[in-house]
Amino acid sequence: MTNVTFKQEAVASLFEKFQGIFDIGAAVTPRTIHSQGVLLKKHYNSVTAENQMKFAEIHPEPHRYTFEAADSIVDFAVREGKKVRGHTLVWHNQTPDWVFQGDNGAPAAREQLLARMERHIEIVVKRYRGQVYAWDVVNEAIEDTAEVMLRKSKWLDIIGEDYIAKAFEYAHRVDPNAVLFYNDYNETNPVKREKIYSLVKSLLDQGVPIHGIGMQGHWNIHGPTLAEIREAIERYASLGVQLQITELDLSMFEHEDRRTDLIEPSAELQAQRYEQMFDLFKEFRGIITAVTFWGAADDHTWLDDFPVKGRKNWPFLFDNLHVPKKSFHNIMK
Ligand code: GLA
Repeated sequence: MTNVTFKQEAVASLFEKFQGIFDIGAAVTPRTIHSQGVLLKKHYNSVTAENQMKFAEIHPEPHRYTFEAADSIVDFAVREGKKVRGHTLVWHNQTPDWVFQGDNGAPAAREQLLARMERHIEIVVKRYRGQVYAWDVVNEAIEDTAEVMLRKSKWLDIIGEDYIAKAFEYAHRVDPNAVLFYNDYNETNPVKREKIYSLVKSLLDQGVPIHGIGMQGHWNIHGPTLAEIREAIERYASLGVQLQITELDLSMFEHEDRRTDLIEPSAELQAQRYEQMFDLFKEFRGIITAVTFWGAADDHTWLDDFPVKGRKNWPFLFDNLHVPKKSFHNIMK
C-alpha cells in the first residue's frame, strides 16, 4: 500500500469544482477504496467497479453469483454519498466460456443464450437497483476496421445482431430508471465514430431504450487531437442522447510506442492536454453528464501492464502518493 502523506485538505475538491456541470468519477477496486479512500472521498463523486461487476467476476458459474467484491464498492459509495456507474453487462471479454456452451459440447442455441443473458441482467441489475444509476449495457460491440460493422463475438455468432437491442430491453425492463449506455473505445476515430453513430441511431429508430453513449477516453498525451474529440462529441450529441467520458486516462505513451525506457514523464504536456480537454467538455455541459477516470491516482492503473507489461505509466491528475499534479492544478484554474 502506498505511503500517503499528502493532506488533501490543502487543496480544493475536484468534484465540487465541477458540481452542476458534470460528475467526476473514478474506477475503483475493493482495495483502492481503502488505499485511495481519502482521495476518492475528497475529489470524486461517482465510482465504477474496475472489474467486479463484469460477467466473469460476478457470475463465474451458471448457478453461482459472487457479489461480495461489487457489494463492497457499492457499500462504500452509499456510505460516502457517491453515485455508482455499473460496468458492464454484455461484453465479448471477461465473460466465462460456460455462457456460450450448450449441451454435450455444442455451442448454446440462440434462445438458450438469450435466456441466460436476460437472467444475468435481471439478477445483477435488480440487486443494485436504486444504487447503480447508470449501466454500460453493451461494451465494445463495434469492429475497429472499416469493412465490418459489428465485432465478431460469441454473442453475435449465436444470437445475431439483435443481441444488442435485447440487452438494452432486458436492462430497461428490470430498472426503468437506470440510464443505459453503449460504451466503446477508439470513439474519436472517424471510421469507428460513424459506425458507433449508425448503431446507436438504428437502436433509437427501433425504439430501443438506450439513453447515452460512453466514450471510454483511453487517450494519450499526443492524441487524439482536440478537433477529433470535438467532432466525436458533436456527432454523438446530434443523436439527442447524453454522453459520458467513461474510462479517461492520458497515457504518457502513444499506443504504438512500446519503449520501456521513458524516464521523465511529460507532466507539462499532459497538464496542457487535460486543461484543453476539460475546457472542451465544459462547452458541452448538459450533454456530457459525467467524466469518469479509469482509476484515481498514478499508483493504480491498468496502463502499468498495457500494452507493455510492467511499464510504469502516469495517466492521472494525482501522482503515486496522491499529490495533485500540474494536470490537476490546470483543470482547477
Ligand atoms: C476496456 C473495458 C474496461 C477495462 C479497460 C482496461 O476499456 O471497458 O472495463 O477492462 O478496457 O482496463
